[in-house]
Amino acid sequence: MAQVQKRNRVPLLAGNWKMFKTISEATALVQALKAGCAGISNREILVCPPFAALSTVRDLVRGTNIRLGAQNMHWQLEGAFTGEISPVMVKDAGCQYVIIGHSERRQYFGETDETVNRKTKAAFGQTLIPIVCVGETLAEREAGQQLQVVEEQVRGGLAGLKPAEAEKLVIAYEPVWAIGTGKTATPEQAQEMHQWIRKLLSEFGNGAEQKIKILYGGSIKPDNIDMIMQQPDIDGGLVGGASLKAEDFSRIIKFIG
Ligand code: 13P
Repeated sequence: MAQVQKRNRVPLLAGNWKMFKTISEATALVQALKAGCAGISNREILVCPPFAALSTVRDLVRGTNIRLGAQNMHWQLEGAFTGEISPVMVKDAGCQYVIIGHSERRQYFGETDETVNRKTKAAFGQTLIPIVCVGETLAEREAGQQLQVVEEQVRGGLAGLKPAEAEKLVIAYEPVWAIGTGKTATPEQAQEMHQWIRKLLSEFGNGAEQKIKILYGGSIKPDNIDMIMQQPDIDGGLVGGASLKAEDFSRIIKFIG
């Protein structure tokens, strides 16, 4: 049953470039990626470059199977917020997706469940699909609190969403201890958390939890993606370091499983 339901959710493989790639480097990466994943239609492919490269990448991926996303945004539509980018601007730059509440933003830039919630609602206001990130730290896992921590993030970040919005969401479970460390959660650890998140999402009603894609993120590489994607509640990946190399990301997109 789980396998049948999983097949209804088209896998999404998303590259979060973080603060990497100048415009010329971004151009080279996207050109190589276009060649590497040409003709793939049974997977959704997404790249999330830094803001400065968004419009260049938009022009390069137009008419291809690669979609565009931003890594963050403010929740206000416009205003005197020096250094911020609005949802309207993200949409105008050609994005369909926006990453919200990445752990690096929570850790270094004061992002909270409340700001995640505001941004998530603002994304829907512009018909952007939010990729809402959740995940526990190593200390929280070692204390056995991971389910509770992620539950709070899910409840806080998604509070007040309408069921019709909720079913369009993407959630990314990224255990902080697995990001950029080379330590991946075991497929069983990831599956346990994804199943827990899907159970929480069932509270939206109307079977929303069967439509919502839940991605795993944290040291995904060409040599572990196949095993990760075999888990019934893992619908794709949010890939950092390995998305910066076209060859690696193409192999990840072509996972077997
Ligand atoms: P790495 O794949 O580099 O561990 O990063 C994961 C991540 O944070 C994606 O958003």
